[in-house]
Amino acid sequence: MAGAPGHVPVLLHEVLHWLAPKDGGVYVDATLGLGGHSRAILEASAPGGRVIGFEWDSQAATIARENLAEFADRIQIVPASYVGLQDELARLQISGIDGLVADLGVSSLQLDAGERGFSFMVDAPLDMRMDKSRQLDATGLLAAVSETQLADLLYYYGEERQARRIARHLVQAREVEAIVGTKQLARLVAMAVPRKYHPHRVHVATKTFQALRIAVNGELENIETLLRTAPAALKPGGRMAVIAFHSLEDRLVKQAIEQDVMLQALYKKPLEATEEETRKNPRARSAKMRVAERRYS
Ligand SMILES: C[S@@+](CC[C@H](N)C(=O)[O-])C[C@H]1O[C@@H](n2cnc3c(N)ncnc32)[C@H](O)[C@@H]1O
Repeated sequence: MAGAPGHVPVLLHEVLHWLAPKDGGVYVDATLGLGGHSRAILEASAPGGRVIGFEWDSQAATIARENLAEFADRIQIVPASYVGLQDELARLQISGIDGLVADLGVSSLQLDAGERGFSFMVDAPLDMRMDKSRQLDATGLLAAVSETQLADLLYYYGEERQARRIARHLVQAREVEAIVGTKQLARLVAMAVPRKYHPHRVHVATKTFQALRIAVNGELENIETLLRTAPAALKPGGRMAVIAFHSLEDRLVKQAIEQDVMLQALYKKPLEATEEETRKNPRARSAKMRVAERRYS
């Protein structure tokens, strides 16, 4: 399977099937990561297809550049947020694209690199910024929010039913000692939630980590901007494939496709990974892909 070392692209066959990259086509990879999906699109659209790949994590962008070196004349890596899609396409004098893929969420690089602070599996400073130039990291956020703000954030971004309990405990704990580490946070969340409410399959702090990551990176606002700007960037008949990893993301994608008069959904229920893919790549377990086409009129 095509893919960059260290990160297996999810739903790759499905992305290729629905985008059907062609020679001479212009494609946007809104979330380049390590370049797995881009590589496959470049291969499928050889010899003349182009990819514009956005990646705001400079570490990932550097690795993607190395991974895709053989396609250097056909890929343009934009080391910035995809929220600048419209401006970037105008700058490159591209008036319409044939397809766009957005593989939302965290890359294996970010999760596995313990020092980035995304995971409670490794003890590290609580950072969680994908784009290191953003001002506020998770430590700063946890120090700055009020108890109510924190509870709301955990409830809405983490869909955490124990949000109030956790917020109260974290605010009390930070009076004693600043919350600065991944394991420290995971321990505090475990202490805040009575044992009987601990989930069986996942760590009790999973939703808290998701909520903080979404808040630190402004993820939902960014996705909303992408969903607002991408349809106009597509040529008539051009397609966008968006892969979501949790219900908040998928809801935004579903609503945007339903409500945008420029778009036509290509199927109703989101596509999910096959059992075989999930076995080989556990990250694919929660992936849901929706594809829409820009209408001709
Ligand atoms: C799941 S990974 C993509 C993996 C990629 N499809 C591959 O096969 O290697 C998501 C990537 O999107 C990037 N990302 C998330 N939000 C972004 C944004 N607003 N602008 C640019 N990149 C973003 C993350 O830094 C991360 O590297």
